[in-house]
Amino acid sequence: MNTNAVLYNDLDRILVTREEIAKAVRELGEKLTEKFRGESPVFVCILKGASVFFTDLIREIDAPLTTDFMVVSSYGSSTKSTGVVKIVKDLDKPVVGKHVVLVEDIVDSGMTLSYLKRVFANREAASVSIVTLLDKPARRRVDLTVDYSCFNIPDAFVVGYGLDYDEKYRNLPDIGVLHPKIYAAEE
Ligand code: IMP
Ligand code: MG
Repeated sequence: MNTNAVLYNDLDRILVTREEIAKAVRELGEKLTEKFRGESPVFVCILKGASVFFTDLIREIDAPLTTDFMVVSSYGSSTKSTGVVKIVKDLDKPVVGKHVVLVEDIVDSGMTLSYLKRVFANREAASVSIVTLLDKPARRRVDLTVDYSCFNIPDAFVVGYGLDYDEKYRNLPDIGVLHPKIYAAEE
């Protein structure tokens, strides 16, 4: 990997490599294949952050799943949660009686997913499972059960593999800690 590349210059350090991600995604795919044997779940991608993880994950699952996409906003360009969750784009199909799997990039305060879990329970989904690539348990502000998480990470702002800062760095193949100099002006 060329760590002198444009995007890597803005990182403090690499936290999770593409090889570690690929292995974790494969293992998670096997677990979900097992869990949903005989079922036809709907996998919901929480855009945009989960997009890269989602497209890799669904290809590791051997089940007749369907996909749907949702856009929620909670952050804007800031690195701190506003605590406000808004559905900007909703699902295309109803989920009544369906096993719903919410796929997120990262659980931070937990506010986004605890809100969405309530939304899907109200819509009478048969079950709602939470899958996340990353979890920052130290930052949790609400009680939330995360069913599957690939990596627990420390309290640092990370980018790459779909995660952004101000819409940038989503195309970084690894996950890295953004150098604080990049967002220092904002604080
Ligand atoms: P929560 O509602 O506080 O759990 O926020 C979850 C959302 O915040 C995620 O889906 C991300 O979009 C964003 N987020 C939280 N931490 C980070 C981070 O370290 N890097 C990039 N986005 C983050
Ligand atoms: Mg997100």
